Amino acid sequence: MKFFVDTADTSEIKELAATGLLDGVTTNPSLVAKSGRQFKDVIAEICQITEGDVSAEVAATEFDTMIKEADELRKIADNVVIKLPLTFDGLKACKQLTDEGIKTNVTLCFSANQALLAAKAGATYISPFIGRLDDIHLDGLEVIREIRVIYDNYDFDTQILAASVRSPNHVRDCAIVGADVATVPPATLKALVKHPLTDKGLNAFLADWAKTGQSIL
Ligand code: G3P
Repeated sequence: MKFFVDTADTSEIKELAATGLLDGVTTNPSLVAKSGRQFKDVIAEICQITEGDVSAEVAATEFDTMIKEADELRKIADNVVIKLPLTFDGLKACKQLTDEGIKTNVTLCFSANQALLAAKAGATYISPFIGRLDDIHLDGLEVIREIRVIYDNYDFDTQILAASVRSPNHVRDCAIVGADVATVPPATLKALVKHPLTDKGLNAFLADWAKTGQSIL
């Protein structure tokens, strides 16, 4: 499973990219607003930090303007992926951009039927929001499971990009049900490495090693 980080905070992206474990970045208008920076400047900086796919979301809701915005965003860097909302205009834009060989990420997906439409429109990625489904007492993971079955039934190439991932357990569950990618907030991504028994075991090894009085170097 690929790891994307879901943020517009470039210092967090730099730190995670340095681990070699980061495959890409997703942003959305709320994350850009939180950064307080100019959208195109942030995307340009992120695209210099990572060679992976970087999702940049259109702000328009109408087809013609979506395409104009996509053309503008594509000029920023080769690894920009155009993020489009799951509406008929967004799907129409997805189909056109796909036909032009441009990568797309169809976002705000909350059902398997929506994901089916996005795959038919040729989306590179579909972003089901699992946390927001859980928030209203629906089962986000179940939607990912359903999409996996449908995409496998018909050999769709669209990659399932689990979004609105809120915890390490979400990440594990997405991997178990076969999501292709999880986009995860920086703090949650960093939390994946933590285990109290790892810390305890390492401290014990370090203490015992010190007793030997040896040095490897
Ligand atoms: O980027 C879309 C998604 O990951 C947002 O997550 O936590 O705002 O529901 P959240």
